[in-house]
Amino acid sequence: MADIIDGKAFAADLRGKVAEGVAEFSAKAGRKPGLAVVLVGEDPASQIYVRNKHKATVAAGMESFEHRLPADTTQEDLLALVAQLNADPAVDGILVQLPLPKGLDENAVIQAIDPDKDVDGFTTASAGRLMTGLPGFVACTPLGCLMLLKDRLGDLSGKTAVIIGRSNIVGKPMAQLLLRESCTVTIAHSRTKDLPDVVRAADIVVAAVGRPEMVKGDWLKPGATVIDVGINRVPAADEGKTKLVGDVDFASASETVGAITPVPGGVGPMTIACLLYNTLEAANRREG
Ligand code: GUN
Repeated sequence: MADIIDGKAFAADLRGKVAEGVAEFSAKAGRKPGLAVVLVGEDPASQIYVRNKHKATVAAGMESFEHRLPADTTQEDLLALVAQLNADPAVDGILVQLPLPKGLDENAVIQAIDPDKDVDGFTTASAGRLMTGLPGFVACTPLGCLMLLKDRLGDLSGKTAVIIGRSNIVGKPMAQLLLRESCTVTIAHSRTKDLPDVVRAADIVVAAVGRPEMVKGDWLKPGATVIDVGINRVPAADEGKTKLVGDVDFASASETVGAITPVPGGVGPMTIACLLYNTLEAANRREG
């Protein structure tokens, strides 16, 4: 049976380390690191995410600046807020919660964020810095996946990695991160031919396609390390109930592979921990 990679425990440990770093920063700088989170509209899922981010930020000893704007906020007003946060010396990191309500230009808002405060790693400047090896911020989910992989495997150099999914937020930055670690990287996606054979060649598999339990145990190389980014809600065995599953069929995969992240409790908890990590890093760079 595979080892289970405990993302929840790793994230708790990382949050503890960030809190120590925050205490050191605050003693030196005479202020706390600050994270500004902007939420536009009433999307229920976004409200929960933002509340969780606020709690985690405060628990780490940082300043949390929450900006809640009505759904009918204009592009101009939103851009003015981002400009104000860019200029505010108390703000080290800026996160604009996505999706934005219809009518707002998401891309224009994200690109307006100062790359040195882009703790989500969503600006094209951050993507370009990652691609060219310059210091910048890496999107939280792929960064969390990399931390789990390095903790499990140590040096990743020379390993064969297959990423399933090509999104700007996970698949593409994940590929860049693994390339930076000297892996041989393949990005597979919905049009990839003979996907099971492609996946079977991999020492490292990162599944980020958003299809419940798509990757089966017999697609995987024995001993491989599997990171499951999927969070899919599906009907449970109990009538009327639902459950969360990943993009990997955990039951069959865990009979073949060396190690695998569970869903929930794998990659999920790493995302907020990495947001705090990036915010502390932003504060240290700005003061340094
Ligand atoms: N919406 C869902 N996840 C995220 C995230 O990580 N960052 C932002 N900005 N919006 C999101």
